[in-house]
Amino acid sequence: MTGGGCGRRRFRLAASATILLLLAPANLALAPKGLAPSTKRKLQNHAAYPAAASSDTEDGLPSRGRLAFLKRIITRGDIRGERYGSTNNSILSPADAALKVGVKPTREASKETWQRAWRSHRFAMKYLHHFDSVQPTDSKLALACLWWKALAGNDLRSPVYDCQLSYDLLPAGTRWIVGRTLCRFYPRLHHANVEIRTSYLDRSLCNAINSIVEESAGKERQNIRLIVMGGGYDTRSFKLLEQMLMNNRTAEHRGLLLRQRRRLGRQRLSQSTPKNAYQNLTCQFDLECYELDLPVVVEAKRKLIKSRLLRRRPWLKSFVDYPRLIEADFNDLASTRQTLESIVALDKRTHNIVVFEGVMIYLDEGVPHGILEMCAGVLEGSNSTLCFADRLENIPGGDEDAARVEMEKTGWTLDDWLSKPGLARHMGVARLNQ
Ligand SMILES: C[S@@+](CC[C@H](N)C(=O)[O-])C[C@H]1O[C@@H](n2cnc3c(N)ncnc32)[C@H](O)[C@@H]1O
Repeated sequence: MTGGGCGRRRFRLAASATILLLLAPANLALAPKGLAPSTKRKLQNHAAYPAAASSDTEDGLPSRGRLAFLKRIITRGDIRGERYGSTNNSILSPADAALKVGVKPTREASKETWQRAWRSHRFAMKYLHHFDSVQPTDSKLALACLWWKALAGNDLRSPVYDCQLSYDLLPAGTRWIVGRTLCRFYPRLHHANVEIRTSYLDRSLCNAINSIVEESAGKERQNIRLIVMGGGYDTRSFKLLEQMLMNNRTAEHRGLLLRQRRRLGRQRLSQSTPKNAYQNLTCQFDLECYELDLPVVVEAKRKLIKSRLLRRRPWLKSFVDYPRLIEADFNDLASTRQTLESIVALDKRTHNIVVFEGVMIYLDEGVPHGILEMCAGVLEGSNSTLCFADRLENIPGGDEDAARVEMEKTGWTLDDWLSKPGLARHMGVARLNQ
Protein backbone atom coordinates (compact mmCIF):
# COMPACT_ATOMS: atom_id res chain seq x y z
CA MET A 1 0.00 0.00 0.00
CA THR A 2 1.28 3.51 -0.79
CA GLY A 3 1.99 6.02 2.01
CA GLY A 4 -0.95 8.21 0.86
CA GLY A 5 -3.36 5.25 0.74
CA CYS A 6 -2.26 4.11 4.20
CA GLY A 7 -2.64 7.64 5.61
CA ARG A 8 -6.13 7.96 4.16
CA ARG A 9 -7.10 4.59 5.61
CA ARG A 10 -5.79 5.59 9.02
CA PHE A 11 -7.71 8.87 8.86
CA ARG A 12 -10.91 7.01 7.96
CA LEU A 13 -10.46 4.61 10.84
CA ALA A 14 -9.75 7.42 13.29
CA ALA A 15 -12.74 9.44 12.08
CA SER A 16 -15.06 6.44 12.27
CA ALA A 17 -13.81 5.49 15.73
CA THR A 18 -14.43 9.06 16.89
CA ILE A 19 -17.97 8.91 15.58
CA LEU A 20 -18.69 5.65 17.36
CA LEU A 21 -17.26 7.07 20.55
CA LEU A 22 -19.40 10.15 20.18
CA LEU A 23 -22.52 8.10 19.68
CA ALA A 24 -21.74 5.75 22.53
CA PRO A 25 -22.49 8.23 25.36
CA ALA A 26 -26.04 8.36 24.07
CA ASN A 27 -26.32 4.81 25.36
CA LEU A 28 -25.07 5.70 28.78
CA ALA A 29 -27.01 8.80 29.76
CA LEU A 30 -30.47 7.48 30.42
CA ALA A 31 -33.35 9.31 32.07
CA PRO A 32 -32.36 10.53 35.55
CA LYS A 33 -32.78 7.97 38.30
CA GLY A 34 -35.35 8.57 41.03
CA LEU A 35 -37.92 10.38 38.87
CA ALA A 36 -41.49 9.19 38.76
CA PRO A 37 -42.18 7.10 35.63
CA SER A 38 -44.64 9.72 34.33
CA THR A 39 -42.00 12.47 34.60
CA LYS A 40 -39.46 10.23 32.90
CA ARG A 41 -41.96 9.68 30.12
CA LYS A 42 -42.55 13.42 29.79
CA LEU A 43 -38.83 13.93 29.46
CA GLN A 44 -38.55 11.28 26.85
CA ASN A 45 -41.63 12.27 24.91
CA HIS A 46 -40.76 15.89 24.87
CA ALA A 47 -37.30 15.05 23.70
CA ALA A 48 -38.39 12.71 20.95
CA TYR A 49 -37.06 13.90 17.61
CA PRO A 50 -35.91 17.36 18.67
CA ALA A 51 -34.82 18.10 15.14
CA ALA A 52 -32.89 21.20 15.96
CA ALA A 53 -29.38 22.12 15.06
CA SER A 54 -29.13 24.84 17.68
CA SER A 55 -29.61 24.71 21.41
CA ASP A 56 -33.30 25.54 20.95
CA THR A 57 -35.28 22.63 19.67
CA GLU A 58 -37.83 23.15 16.92
CA ASP A 59 -40.50 22.43 19.49
CA GLY A 60 -39.58 25.82 20.95
CA LEU A 61 -37.86 24.45 24.02
CA PRO A 62 -34.74 26.38 25.07
CA SER A 63 -32.30 23.96 26.69
CA ARG A 64 -30.83 25.55 29.81
CA GLY A 65 -30.23 22.51 31.92
CA ARG A 66 -32.21 19.63 33.25
CA LEU A 67 -33.38 21.42 36.41
CA ALA A 68 -34.87 24.37 34.57
CA PHE A 69 -36.54 22.00 32.17
CA LEU A 70 -37.96 19.87 34.97
CA LYS A 71 -39.26 22.95 36.79
CA ARG A 72 -41.01 24.15 33.65
CA ILE A 73 -42.78 20.89 32.92
CA ILE A 74 -43.76 20.40 36.54
CA THR A 75 -45.13 23.91 37.02
CA ARG A 76 -46.56 24.68 33.61
CA GLY A 77 -46.92 21.39 31.82
CA ASP A 78 -45.28 20.73 28.48
CA ILE A 79 -44.40 23.70 26.35
CA ARG A 80 -47.34 23.37 24.00
CA GLY A 81 -49.59 21.66 26.49
CA GLU A 82 -48.87 18.39 24.72
CA ARG A 83 -48.35 15.26 26.72
CA TYR A 84 -47.79 12.47 24.28
CA GLY A 85 -49.35 9.23 25.30
CA SER A 86 -51.09 10.59 28.40
CA THR A 87 -54.85 10.38 28.65
CA ASN A 88 -55.47 14.01 27.73
CA ASN A 89 -53.38 13.99 24.60
CA SER A 90 -54.06 12.53 21.23
CA ILE A 91 -50.44 11.87 20.26
CA LEU A 92 -49.37 8.29 20.86
CA SER A 93 -46.37 7.50 23.04
CA PRO A 94 -43.21 6.44 21.12
CA ALA A 95 -43.70 2.86 22.29
CA ASP A 96 -47.34 2.72 21.16
CA ALA A 97 -46.59 4.33 17.79
CA ALA A 98 -43.73 1.87 17.21
CA LEU A 99 -45.91 -1.08 18.17
CA LYS A 100 -48.61 -0.05 15.68
CA VAL A 101 -46.17 -0.07 12.77
CA GLY A 102 -44.24 -3.16 13.86
CA VAL A 103 -40.90 -1.60 14.78
CA LYS A 104 -38.99 -1.76 18.04
CA PRO A 105 -39.70 1.29 20.27
CA THR A 106 -37.32 4.20 20.52
CA ARG A 107 -35.03 4.25 23.54
CA GLU A 108 -36.35 5.68 26.81
CA ALA A 109 -33.82 8.46 27.23
CA SER A 110 -33.60 11.97 28.60
CA LYS A 111 -33.78 15.12 26.54
CA GLU A 112 -30.03 15.61 27.02
CA THR A 113 -29.34 12.19 25.56
CA TRP A 114 -31.43 12.95 22.48
CA GLN A 115 -29.67 16.27 22.09
CA ARG A 116 -26.24 14.72 22.55
CA ALA A 117 -26.99 12.16 19.88
CA TRP A 118 -28.26 14.98 17.72
CA ARG A 119 -25.07 17.02 18.10
CA SER A 120 -22.99 13.90 17.41
CA HIS A 121 -24.85 13.35 14.14
CA ARG A 122 -24.30 16.93 13.03
CA PHE A 123 -20.63 16.76 13.95
CA ALA A 124 -20.13 13.37 12.33
CA MET A 125 -21.73 14.42 9.05
CA LYS A 126 -18.78 16.67 8.15
CA TYR A 127 -16.30 13.81 8.53
CA LEU A 128 -18.51 11.19 6.94
CA HIS A 129 -18.53 13.21 3.72
CA HIS A 130 -15.03 14.68 3.95
CA PHE A 131 -13.72 12.67 0.99
CA ASP A 132 -17.06 12.44 -0.77
CA SER A 133 -16.73 13.53 -4.40
CA VAL A 134 -20.48 14.27 -4.62
CA GLN A 135 -20.71 16.39 -1.43
CA PRO A 136 -24.53 16.14 -1.23
CA THR A 137 -26.17 19.00 0.62
CA ASP A 138 -27.92 18.26 3.91
CA SER A 139 -30.93 20.31 2.83
CA LYS A 140 -33.34 20.35 5.79
CA LEU A 141 -31.85 17.12 7.14
CA ALA A 142 -32.25 15.17 3.89
CA LEU A 143 -28.73 13.74 4.28
CA ALA A 144 -29.19 12.93 7.96
CA CYS A 145 -32.38 11.08 6.98
CA LEU A 146 -30.39 9.06 4.43
CA TRP A 147 -27.92 7.90 7.12
CA TRP A 148 -30.76 7.12 9.54
CA LYS A 149 -32.63 5.20 6.85
CA ALA A 150 -29.45 3.28 5.97
CA LEU A 151 -29.09 2.29 9.64
CA ALA A 152 -32.66 0.97 9.86
CA GLY A 153 -32.50 -0.37 6.29
CA ASN A 154 -29.53 -2.56 7.18
CA ASP A 155 -31.22 -4.01 10.25
CA LEU A 156 -32.39 -7.51 9.38
CA ARG A 157 -34.95 -7.42 12.19
CA SER A 158 -36.69 -4.29 10.94
CA PRO A 159 -39.74 -4.17 8.66
CA VAL A 160 -37.98 -1.37 6.79
CA TYR A 161 -35.01 -3.62 5.93
CA ASP A 162 -34.19 -2.44 2.39
CA CYS A 163 -31.54 -4.86 1.07
CA GLN A 164 -28.91 -2.10 1.32
CA LEU A 165 -30.66 0.43 -0.92
CA SER A 166 -30.07 3.52 1.21
CA TYR A 167 -26.62 2.18 2.13
CA ASP A 168 -25.71 2.11 -1.55
CA LEU A 169 -26.07 5.90 -1.81
CA LEU A 170 -23.45 6.48 0.90
CA PRO A 171 -19.72 7.11 0.38
CA ALA A 172 -17.52 3.98 0.18
CA GLY A 173 -14.94 5.04 2.79
CA THR A 174 -17.32 5.76 5.65
CA ARG A 175 -20.57 3.93 5.02
CA TRP A 176 -19.40 0.82 6.80
CA ILE A 177 -20.01 2.49 10.17
CA VAL A 178 -23.74 1.97 9.57
CA GLY A 179 -23.15 -1.43 7.94
CA ARG A 180 -24.91 -4.66 8.81
CA THR A 181 -22.43 -5.60 11.51
CA LEU A 182 -22.50 -2.31 13.40
CA CYS A 183 -26.07 -1.07 12.83
CA ARG A 184 -27.48 -3.03 15.77
CA PHE A 185 -25.17 -1.28 18.28
CA TYR A 186 -26.63 2.19 17.72
CA PRO A 187 -29.00 3.43 20.42
CA ARG A 188 -32.52 3.59 19.09
CA LEU A 189 -32.91 7.36 19.03
CA HIS A 190 -33.33 9.52 15.92
CA HIS A 191 -32.99 6.74 13.38
CA ALA A 192 -35.63 4.71 15.21
CA ASN A 193 -38.04 7.64 15.17
CA VAL A 194 -37.60 7.97 11.39
CA GLU A 195 -38.01 4.18 11.14
CA ILE A 196 -41.57 4.52 12.53
CA ARG A 197 -42.65 6.84 9.75
CA THR A 198 -40.79 4.84 7.07
CA SER A 199 -42.57 1.69 8.16
CA TYR A 200 -45.96 3.42 8.17
CA LEU A 201 -45.45 4.89 4.70
CA ASP A 202 -44.04 1.69 3.16
CA ARG A 203 -47.01 -0.27 4.43
CA SER A 204 -49.56 2.34 3.35
CA LEU A 205 -48.05 2.65 -0.11
CA CYS A 206 -48.07 -1.11 -0.68
CA ASN A 207 -51.63 -1.42 0.65
CA ALA A 208 -52.73 1.38 -1.69
CA ILE A 209 -51.15 -0.34 -4.70
CA ASN A 210 -52.63 -3.73 -3.77
CA SER A 211 -56.13 -2.27 -3.48
CA ILE A 212 -55.82 -0.37 -6.77
CA VAL A 213 -54.90 -3.60 -8.54
CA GLU A 214 -57.53 -5.67 -6.70
CA GLU A 215 -60.30 -3.18 -7.52
CA SER A 216 -59.42 -3.40 -11.20
CA ALA A 217 -59.37 -7.20 -11.29
CA GLY A 218 -60.01 -8.49 -14.78
CA LYS A 219 -59.49 -5.10 -16.38
CA GLU A 220 -56.36 -3.98 -18.21
CA ARG A 221 -53.00 -3.72 -16.40
CA GLN A 222 -52.98 -0.72 -14.09
CA ASN A 223 -50.58 2.20 -14.35
CA ILE A 224 -49.42 3.75 -11.10
CA ARG A 225 -47.78 7.13 -10.81
CA LEU A 226 -45.86 7.80 -7.62
CA ILE A 227 -45.32 11.51 -6.91
CA VAL A 228 -42.94 12.07 -4.00
CA MET A 229 -43.02 15.61 -2.63
CA GLY A 230 -39.68 16.58 -1.07
CA GLY A 231 -38.16 13.16 -1.78
CA GLY A 232 -34.67 14.14 -0.57
CA TYR A 233 -32.33 11.12 -0.83
CA ASP A 234 -35.08 8.65 -0.03
CA THR A 235 -35.03 5.35 -1.94
CA ARG A 236 -38.71 4.35 -1.79
CA SER A 237 -39.08 4.55 -5.58
CA PHE A 238 -36.22 2.04 -5.98
CA LYS A 239 -37.70 -0.30 -3.37
CA LEU A 240 -40.84 -0.42 -5.50
CA LEU A 241 -38.89 -0.89 -8.71
CA GLU A 242 -36.81 -3.76 -7.31
CA GLN A 243 -39.94 -5.49 -6.04
CA MET A 244 -41.45 -5.19 -9.52
CA LEU A 245 -38.30 -6.76 -10.94
CA MET A 246 -38.59 -9.60 -8.42
CA ASN A 247 -42.21 -10.18 -9.46
CA ASN A 248 -41.50 -10.14 -13.19
CA ARG A 249 -39.81 -13.37 -14.26
CA THR A 250 -38.90 -12.02 -17.68
CA ALA A 251 -37.39 -8.73 -16.49
CA GLU A 252 -33.97 -7.85 -17.86
CA HIS A 253 -31.08 -8.26 -15.34
CA ARG A 254 -33.41 -9.91 -12.80
CA GLY A 255 -30.77 -12.62 -12.34
CA LEU A 256 -28.31 -10.10 -10.89
CA LEU A 257 -30.87 -8.87 -8.39
CA LEU A 258 -31.75 -12.42 -7.38
CA ARG A 259 -28.08 -13.20 -6.81
CA GLN A 260 -27.76 -10.17 -4.49
CA ARG A 261 -30.92 -11.14 -2.60
CA ARG A 262 -29.64 -14.70 -2.17
CA ARG A 263 -26.28 -13.44 -0.86
CA LEU A 264 -27.98 -11.11 1.64
CA GLY A 265 -30.63 -13.72 2.46
CA ARG A 266 -28.03 -16.14 3.76
CA GLN A 267 -27.63 -13.89 6.74
CA ARG A 268 -31.33 -13.55 7.50
CA LEU A 269 -31.94 -14.42 11.09
CA SER A 270 -34.92 -16.70 11.27
CA GLN A 271 -38.47 -17.23 10.11
CA SER A 272 -39.60 -14.70 12.73
CA THR A 273 -37.66 -11.88 11.04
CA PRO A 274 -40.31 -9.39 9.89
CA LYS A 275 -40.96 -9.16 6.18
CA ASN A 276 -40.66 -5.75 4.62
CA ALA A 277 -43.90 -4.32 3.24
CA TYR A 278 -42.79 -4.62 -0.39
CA GLN A 279 -42.68 -8.40 -0.19
CA ASN A 280 -46.48 -8.31 0.15
CA LEU A 281 -46.70 -6.68 -3.28
CA THR A 282 -47.33 -9.65 -5.46
CA CYS A 283 -49.40 -7.97 -8.17
CA GLN A 284 -48.25 -6.73 -11.57
CA PHE A 285 -48.60 -3.08 -12.57
CA ASP A 286 -46.81 -0.39 -14.56
CA LEU A 287 -45.00 2.24 -12.57
CA GLU A 288 -43.77 5.75 -13.20
CA CYS A 289 -42.18 7.81 -10.48
CA TYR A 290 -41.57 11.53 -10.00
CA GLU A 291 -39.65 13.09 -7.14
CA LEU A 292 -39.81 16.84 -6.51
CA ASP A 293 -37.32 18.72 -4.35
CA LEU A 294 -35.19 21.86 -4.20
CA PRO A 295 -32.65 22.22 -7.06
CA VAL A 296 -29.57 21.49 -4.87
CA VAL A 297 -31.04 18.20 -3.72
CA VAL A 298 -32.14 17.18 -7.22
CA GLU A 299 -28.65 17.83 -8.57
CA ALA A 300 -26.95 15.87 -5.77
CA LYS A 301 -29.37 12.96 -6.01
CA ARG A 302 -28.78 12.65 -9.77
CA LYS A 303 -25.05 12.40 -9.06
CA LEU A 304 -25.55 9.87 -6.24
CA ILE A 305 -27.70 7.65 -8.41
CA LYS A 306 -25.30 7.80 -11.35
CA SER A 307 -22.02 7.48 -9.50
CA ARG A 308 -23.06 5.09 -6.70
CA LEU A 309 -26.41 3.38 -6.96
CA LEU A 310 -26.15 2.26 -10.59
CA ARG A 311 -22.55 1.10 -10.14
CA ARG A 312 -23.43 -0.90 -7.04
CA ARG A 313 -26.78 -2.15 -8.39
CA PRO A 314 -26.19 -2.74 -12.11
CA TRP A 315 -29.63 -4.34 -12.57
CA LEU A 316 -31.10 -0.83 -12.31
CA LYS A 317 -29.05 0.55 -15.20
CA SER A 318 -31.64 -0.08 -17.88
CA PHE A 319 -34.13 2.21 -16.11
CA VAL A 320 -32.95 5.47 -17.56
CA ASP A 321 -34.26 8.65 -15.94
CA TYR A 322 -35.90 6.71 -13.09
CA PRO A 323 -37.18 8.29 -10.93
CA ARG A 324 -37.83 11.55 -12.80
CA LEU A 325 -36.19 14.15 -10.54
CA ILE A 326 -37.83 17.55 -10.82
CA GLU A 327 -36.79 20.86 -9.29
CA ALA A 328 -39.46 22.62 -7.25
CA ASP A 329 -39.85 25.09 -4.43
CA PHE A 330 -43.12 24.30 -2.69
CA ASN A 331 -43.25 27.73 -1.08
CA ASP A 332 -43.96 28.98 -4.60
CA LEU A 333 -47.35 27.32 -4.92
CA ALA A 334 -48.13 28.71 -8.37
CA SER A 335 -45.03 27.24 -9.98
CA THR A 336 -45.41 23.94 -8.08
CA ARG A 337 -48.94 23.78 -9.48
CA GLN A 338 -47.61 24.16 -13.03
CA THR A 339 -45.05 21.40 -12.42
CA LEU A 340 -47.70 19.06 -11.07
CA GLU A 341 -50.06 19.85 -13.94
CA SER A 342 -47.36 18.98 -16.46
CA ILE A 343 -46.80 15.61 -14.74
CA VAL A 344 -50.48 14.73 -14.51
CA ALA A 345 -51.32 15.90 -18.05
CA LEU A 346 -49.27 12.99 -19.45
CA ASP A 347 -52.01 10.44 -18.80
CA LYS A 348 -55.18 11.16 -16.89
CA ARG A 349 -56.21 7.49 -16.44
CA THR A 350 -53.20 6.70 -14.27
CA HIS A 351 -53.67 6.20 -10.50
CA ASN A 352 -51.70 8.82 -8.60
CA ILE A 353 -50.15 8.21 -5.21
CA VAL A 354 -48.79 11.40 -3.66
CA VAL A 355 -46.33 11.03 -0.78
CA PHE A 356 -45.25 13.67 1.75
CA GLU A 357 -42.59 12.62 4.25
CA GLY A 358 -41.07 15.14 6.64
CA VAL A 359 -41.27 18.11 4.29
CA MET A 360 -44.25 20.24 5.38
CA ILE A 361 -42.34 20.96 8.59
CA TYR A 362 -40.02 23.18 6.57
CA LEU A 363 -42.60 25.07 4.53
CA ASP A 364 -43.86 28.60 5.15
CA GLU A 365 -47.00 29.11 7.20
CA GLY A 366 -50.12 28.37 5.18
CA VAL A 367 -48.23 26.37 2.55
CA PRO A 368 -48.87 22.85 3.98
CA HIS A 369 -52.64 23.54 3.85
CA GLY A 370 -52.33 25.26 0.47
CA ILE A 371 -50.26 22.50 -1.14
CA LEU A 372 -52.77 19.79 -0.17
CA GLU A 373 -55.56 21.91 -1.65
CA MET A 374 -53.50 22.56 -4.77
CA CYS A 375 -52.74 18.83 -5.24
CA ALA A 376 -56.45 18.01 -4.92
CA GLY A 377 -57.28 20.70 -7.50
CA VAL A 378 -54.72 19.47 -10.04
CA LEU A 379 -55.64 15.80 -9.57
CA GLU A 380 -59.40 16.43 -9.71
CA GLY A 381 -61.28 13.75 -11.63
CA SER A 382 -58.50 11.18 -11.26
CA ASN A 383 -58.09 8.27 -8.87
CA SER A 384 -55.61 9.58 -6.36
CA THR A 385 -54.35 8.59 -2.93
CA LEU A 386 -52.35 10.64 -0.47
CA CYS A 387 -49.89 8.98 1.94
CA PHE A 388 -48.20 11.22 4.47
CA ALA A 389 -45.94 11.20 7.51
CA ASP A 390 -45.56 14.89 8.12
CA ARG A 391 -46.91 17.80 10.10
CA LEU A 392 -50.22 19.04 8.79
CA GLU A 393 -51.53 22.48 9.59
CA ASN A 394 -54.47 23.20 11.90
CA ILE A 395 -53.90 20.02 13.95
CA PRO A 396 -52.00 21.01 17.12
CA GLY A 397 -51.95 17.50 18.60
CA GLY A 398 -52.70 14.16 17.05
CA ASP A 399 -56.49 14.50 17.01
CA GLU A 400 -58.08 12.34 14.30
CA ASP A 401 -61.24 14.48 14.12
CA ALA A 402 -59.18 17.60 13.46
CA ALA A 403 -57.29 15.67 10.77
CA ARG A 404 -60.55 14.62 9.15
CA VAL A 405 -61.69 18.24 9.02
CA GLU A 406 -58.36 19.45 7.61
CA MET A 407 -58.50 16.75 4.93
CA GLU A 408 -62.11 17.60 3.98
CA LYS A 409 -61.23 21.29 3.73
CA THR A 410 -58.38 20.54 1.34
CA GLY A 411 -60.32 18.11 -0.88
CA TRP A 412 -59.38 14.71 0.62
CA THR A 413 -61.15 12.03 2.68
CA LEU A 414 -59.15 10.52 5.50
CA ASP A 415 -59.00 6.71 5.41
CA ASP A 416 -56.33 5.97 7.99
CA TRP A 417 -54.68 7.92 10.78
CA LEU A 418 -51.85 7.46 13.26
CA SER A 419 -49.90 9.96 15.32
CA LYS A 420 -46.41 9.74 16.71
CA PRO A 421 -44.17 12.02 18.76
CA GLY A 422 -41.76 14.35 17.00
CA LEU A 423 -42.07 16.86 14.23
CA ALA A 424 -43.42 14.59 11.48
CA ARG A 425 -46.16 13.57 13.87
CA HIS A 426 -49.16 13.10 11.58
CA MET A 427 -49.30 9.90 9.58
CA GLY A 428 -52.23 9.02 7.39
CA VAL A 429 -53.77 7.90 4.14
CA ALA A 430 -56.47 9.85 2.30
CA ARG A 431 -58.46 9.50 -0.91
CA LEU A 432 -59.23 12.33 -3.30
CA ASN A 433 -62.85 13.47 -2.95
CA GLN A 434 -64.81 12.47 -6.06
C1 LIG B 1 -36.27 15.99 6.29
S1 LIG B 1 -35.93 15.96 4.59
C2 LIG B 1 -36.95 14.57 4.15
C3 LIG B 1 -36.50 13.96 2.88
C4 LIG B 1 -37.26 12.67 2.53
N1 LIG B 1 -38.66 12.90 2.40
C5 LIG B 1 -36.98 11.62 3.55
O1 LIG B 1 -37.84 11.37 4.39
O2 LIG B 1 -35.88 11.04 3.51
C6 LIG B 1 -36.89 17.34 4.00
C7 LIG B 1 -36.86 17.49 2.49
O3 LIG B 1 -37.76 18.54 2.14
C8 LIG B 1 -37.15 19.31 1.12
N2 LIG B 1 -37.69 20.68 1.14
C9 LIG B 1 -37.65 21.55 2.17
N3 LIG B 1 -38.21 22.72 1.80
C10 LIG B 1 -38.61 22.57 0.53
C11 LIG B 1 -39.26 23.42 -0.41
N4 LIG B 1 -39.57 24.69 -0.11
N5 LIG B 1 -39.52 22.94 -1.64
C12 LIG B 1 -39.19 21.68 -1.97
N6 LIG B 1 -38.58 20.81 -1.13
C13 LIG B 1 -38.29 21.26 0.10
C14 LIG B 1 -35.68 19.30 1.51
O4 LIG B 1 -34.84 19.68 0.44
C15 LIG B 1 -35.49 17.86 1.96
O5 LIG B 1 -35.12 17.02 0.91
